[in-house]
Amino acid sequence: MHSFARHLHSKSGEAPAKETKGLVLDRGWSYDLMVWFCDTFLFHGQMRELRQRTANLAGIQPGEQALDVGCGTGTLAMEAQSRVGRAGRVTGVDPGPQQIARARSKAARRNLPIDFQIGVIEQLPFPDQTFDVALSTLIMHHLPAGLKRQGLAEIARVLKPGGRLVIADFKRKQERQGLASRFHAGGSDLQDLVALLKDAGFSQVETEEMRPPRFSAFPGAGFVRAYKS
Ligand SMILES: C[S@@+](CC[C@H](N)C(=O)[O-])C[C@H]1O[C@@H](n2cnc3c(N)ncnc32)[C@H](O)[C@@H]1O
Repeated sequence: MHSFARHLHSKSGEAPAKETKGLVLDRGWSYDLMVWFCDTFLFHGQMRELRQRTANLAGIQPGEQALDVGCGTGTLAMEAQSRVGRAGRVTGVDPGPQQIARARSKAARRNLPIDFQIGVIEQLPFPDQTFDVALSTLIMHHLPAGLKRQGLAEIARVLKPGGRLVIADFKRKQERQGLASRFHAGGSDLQDLVALLKDAGFSQVETEEMRPPRFSAFPGAGFVRAYKS
């Protein structure tokens, strides 16, 4: 998947939010095409399941304010919108202008009032204590360690007290077996994420693993749920 990555040199007209040391994907519809291809032919639907599981673990309720950090082309944010309903609000942030443009057009086609913004995890453009819940899928392995720390501190800042965060990421390549170990993508160590979350002031940190089905190239994934103290 990283063959699509770049460090913020967008072809689209909209300016990126700021420079970031994160590995930015900025492919819009071709990102969705790649994910569809991988999920259909290589992952046996596990990407879809990963997003569903993320939303389930977050326990998103009608009327809540939800944030998807590193939202890419907005697929998870749309799932979150279906759960918060018209009384709630979903915001998605990603530094890739083409990712955001694609997310906006997908939401507009479905008449979903999601607020997609160009932005970075290390400097979230929201006041303190704005959101009930924050989600982040497959972005942690795009960030160097220092940026993860900064980003988690920012998420803690914009969450309301008691607000929850669910992070999902691929398993690290060294922990995978079979076909999945040949699939080129980064991943995260769950225990590293747990430590980072505790350092950022989160509590009740719980983890869960998603194992790849046999004969699937899906890298396996880990989830972490934590609450802002
Ligand atoms: C593999 S994609 C995952 C996108 C989406 N969450 C999904 O599950 O399809 C990783 C995303 O992280 C974004 N990203 C990279 N650096 C970032 C940063 N500093 N802040 C927020 N997002 C970032 C990339 O632009 C990319 O869209």
